[in-house]
Amino acid sequence: MHSSLIYLMVLGATSISAAPSPSRASLLGKKASTCTFTSAASASASKKSCSDIVLKDIEVPAGETLDLSDLEDGTKVTFEGTTTFGYKEWEGPLIRVSGSDITVTGGESHLIDGDGSRWWDGEGNNGGKTKPKMFYAHKLDDSTITGLNVKNTPVNAFSIQANNLILDGITFDNSDGDSNGGHNTDAFNVGESSYITIKNANVKNQDDCLAVNSGENIIFTGGSCSGGHGLSIGSVGGRDDNTVKNVTISDSTISNSQNGVRIKTVYDATGSVSDITYSNIELSNISKYGIVIQQDYKNGSPTGNPTTGVPITDVTIDTITGTVADDATEIYILCGEGSCSDWSWSGVDITGGKKSDDCMNVPSGASC
Ligand SMILES: *[C@@H]1O[C@H](CO)[C@@H](O)[C@H](O)[C@H]1NC(C)=O
Ligand SMILES: *[C@@H]1O[C@H](CO)[C@@H](O)[C@H](O)[C@H]1NC(C)=O
Repeated sequence: MHSSLIYLMVLGATSISAAPSPSRASLLGKKASTCTFTSAASASASKKSCSDIVLKDIEVPAGETLDLSDLEDGTKVTFEGTTTFGYKEWEGPLIRVSGSDITVTGGESHLIDGDGSRWWDGEGNNGGKTKPKMFYAHKLDDSTITGLNVKNTPVNAFSIQANNLILDGITFDNSDGDSNGGHNTDAFNVGESSYITIKNANVKNQDDCLAVNSGENIIFTGGSCSGGHGLSIGSVGGRDDNTVKNVTISDSTISNSQNGVRIKTVYDATGSVSDITYSNIELSNISKYGIVIQQDYKNGSPTGNPTTGVPITDVTIDTITGTVADDATEIYILCGEGSCSDWSWSGVDITGGKKSDDCMNVPSGASC
């Protein structure tokens, strides 16, 4: 057996050959190697000397972040076994990863388990217990996150603030929160980002499947969303960055959710939403709105009074089909005067619910 391996086993250490011998280094063709960590503290302390980080059955202490920020370029991170978190009321995040050219993956049958029921009180971010956010992908650039399996987050799951990040095949199952006080468990919050692709996500939650607050060149495709509030842009306005441009949401299903397709902008704010495409979205059992586009949000609720400061332009709605619940509204559009324009609609076939009497300033091309 290799001597460094024996050394490792004797000490119960978790890092393999951070300073390899010359022969081993040349064998590997680069300086660092695989490090398997079984504690959050050792991972944070030694992350920079490893090109391949394995996080195995880590129990993150209460009130601490599993901190993989500022990784060396090209680092690979793999979650293995079950990752758990101690209980504390705090803002989080529970996990943070940043760097360039980073690959984050999960091993077979791994699980990142937030055990959110300890925080759930039906109030989400609006009160009650302070709940930690799950995963910050901030400054995680030119990188990929693939195949993570995340369960029962206290509130929001993935917060994305990055350039050129792909999230592929993520499973996020918060369905235990449906009957148990899960709230504001957004799957993907995207802000101040560009070139983000989220594909093949499988989401069961109690808030937006996707919420884009700002950013450009964003794709969401091949997703399956259930239990939440739909595939949303917004609310846009009232933040540091209030521009959303070039977002394509396609080839996805939304079931058992409040809304299907949704764009909302903030009352009396400024900003812009442009070049938005929703195509080939299949709806089923939607309880509020099949398609909803509204310019009247204030403090998280609609006012019924649209304003014009965040225009919504160049919107393509193509092949949105399926059913909403009996007492749901199929399509609702509430625009300020002249602040929705250049929309093109085709193949919209939503049935099962009511028509709205309250639409305002519906641009030509669209129908309510
Ligand atoms: C829109 O975003 C997509 C996806 O990132 C990108 O490929 C495309 O070039 C962008 N279009 C424009 C006009 O910037
Ligand atoms: C419809 O969706 C609601 C959640 O919006 C859920 O409670 C209900 O069980 C769903 N109905 C069916 C038949 O799946």
